[in-house]
Amino acid sequence: MTSTVNGLGAAAAAAGHAGHLGTESARREHGRLGEGAYRGPETLAAARKGLRVALPEPSSRYDQNDEWCVVQQPDGSWSEFRFHDYHRIFDVPGLYEKIFYDVLGCDTPRFMADLFADALAGSREAADDVRVLDLGAGNGIMAEELATIGVRHAVGVDILTEARDAAERDRPGLYADYLVADLTALGSDAARTLADHRLTALTVVAALGFGDIPPAAFRTAYDQIADGGWVVLTLKDAFLAEDDTSGFARMIADGLASGALEVVRRERFRHRLATDASPLVYEGIVARKRGPLG
Ligand SMILES: C[S@@+](CC[C@H](N)C(=O)[O-])C[C@H]1O[C@@H](n2cnc3c(N)ncnc32)[C@H](O)[C@@H]1O
Repeated sequence: MTSTVNGLGAAAAAAGHAGHLGTESARREHGRLGEGAYRGPETLAAARKGLRVALPEPSSRYDQNDEWCVVQQPDGSWSEFRFHDYHRIFDVPGLYEKIFYDVLGCDTPRFMADLFADALAGSREAADDVRVLDLGAGNGIMAEELATIGVRHAVGVDILTEARDAAERDRPGLYADYLVADLTALGSDAARTLADHRLTALTVVAALGFGDIPPAAFRTAYDQIADGGWVVLTLKDAFLAEDDTSGFARMIADGLASGALEVVRRERFRHRLATDASPLVYEGIVARKRGPLG
């Protein structure tokens, strides 16, 4: 199974694995890499620290859709968790942060919040005037980063009840509202609720594609944002390539060509490591919404 176990007894193994691309040379190679360390409240930090997670052998390569790890249970046995089984991961306090931040070096919400802050500063717009719809909000890490840059009003949307429960459990008070909804079939009550929030920015971080948020749901969220508002998104670079079949490359390319999307910042960055320690490269885009997507 694995040689990479983290947790108290094997901290060196975890540091060796996640630390591999955290070196200065890796930072130069892959651009602005984050610290890969999320600083949450103390109880969450303690829960994270107590968890033991093991990855598959680094020589096994999995499609990003099929990645998995095993997690030690209170009785000492190990259970397998597919990375895309978010409902199970969110049920365990600290597990999402342990897997993606501590072991796999993700720092994407902080990276994107900083990029957004740069764009806001460049447009002389105050972060506390922005009213964010955070789509695929998960357990609220993006809301925490948005609060750090000065955003005072964020509304979370996620398809999973477990995500909303985890956000309320681990980061209470960050979202003004948190809707559990499928935006491919937005009900009229939920649509009214979103309209009442007078949203001026959409953030979608680490949540587009891969059987997660499809283009149709992104469009619905986009339509909730006022013209002149902001769109902050990350996408795996392959979804922006010409041969992409997910629909995202076409949607973004058409949005840019029509002028509906005006890019303010666009950067390639390392989203996280794959379980074989190779970097997963994403693009981060901060754009102004200038009109409807075609
Ligand atoms: C990798 S997590 C990212 C969470 C958060 N944005 C972050 O950066 O910490 C992806 C999230 O997208 C949510 N998701 C997947 N499909 C979705 C859909 N169709 N509509 C809304 N949320 C969805 C998942 O439930 C999960 O919470």
